[in-house]
Amino acid sequence: MRRYQTLTVVTVLMTLLLIAIGSTVRTTGSGLGCPDWPLCHGNATPPLAGHAVIEFSNRILAALVILTTLALAYRGWREPQKWLAFAIAAGTFAQGPLGGITIMVDLHPVAVASHFLLAIVVFSLSTILLVDVRYPPTAEIERPAWLRPVTLAFVAWGLVLIVSGAIVTTSSTHPGADGVKRLYSLLDVTYWHVRIAAVFVAALAVFLFLLSRLEQTGRRVPRLAWTVVGLTALQIMIGETQWRDQLPWYLVWAHVMTATLLWGTLIALGRTLLPATAVSPSRAPSPSPARA
Ligand code: HEM
Repeated sequence: MRRYQTLTVVTVLMTLLLIAIGSTVRTTGSGLGCPDWPLCHGNATPPLAGHAVIEFSNRILAALVILTTLALAYRGWREPQKWLAFAIAAGTFAQGPLGGITIMVDLHPVAVASHFLLAIVVFSLSTILLVDVRYPPTAEIERPAWLRPVTLAFVAWGLVLIVSGAIVTTSSTHPGADGVKRLYSLLDVTYWHVRIAAVFVAALAVFLFLLSRLEQTGRRVPRLAWTVVGLTALQIMIGETQWRDQLPWYLVWAHVMTATLLWGTLIALGRTLLPATAVSPSRAPSPSPARA
């Protein structure tokens, strides 16, 4: 079991690293560093030039992550969450051909956004598996009837925010290579993205208020909730600064990574509050011996 736990941690960390390298490919304009797929300039190894090396390192890491998730699915087949592990491996495997299609369609913005969003889905599933395997559901948390719809609604708004960010990227100055078509007016889509972020902040305040009304939260819930607050504040600062500074690549990269970490923490918080298996309350009143 301990080996399986380690495998879930390694999967989450490697997926995060893959998103970091994938984002480096886009923000440094290396998306067509290898204009063919799966070969690079017709060879099995890339030429020693900046963009080709960056793009090819993404492929190498992707292959390692695919192997890791295959091991996860194989080992996880004996565990209760076997379908979750299988979905992680299938989603990661699908990223290979999707990455290839993205190159073949010359980094069409819809393909680039789909590649990012599938990575976010796989990262979410890996995070859920990590929480399930490492932290069995605890009865320390009070779970009134409103908790489920409220948590699901808040996480769903978080997803709307992430998708709106990906739509901004379809129209931004960092398409992944020169001359790639842009879909919308950058000003218009950013206008909506920022408003969706503002509603997220207001929803976060309401969500925290409701969580503070719970009598029992355990220790992990406040930790995760404050991490969401910290990452949201950081993300808004990065978002505003990158906008004022005309989107320097390193701030755009930081914006993608902070969004990914924020989303992962939100998923971990949601799963901690709403575990798959039922948990009976730890402080259920025990029958009084006098009345028995
Ligand atoms: C908690 C708040 C926020 C979250 C979670 C968030 C999330 C995201 C995500 C996931 C992306 C897409 C990354 C990609 O496709 O690779 C994005 C892009 C973007 N965001 Fe945000 N964002 C937030 C706040 C803001 C704010 C306040 C601004 C201010 C203007 C902003 C401006 C942008 C811009 C300009 C892009 C496109 C960058 C590019 O790809 O070149 N964001 N955001």
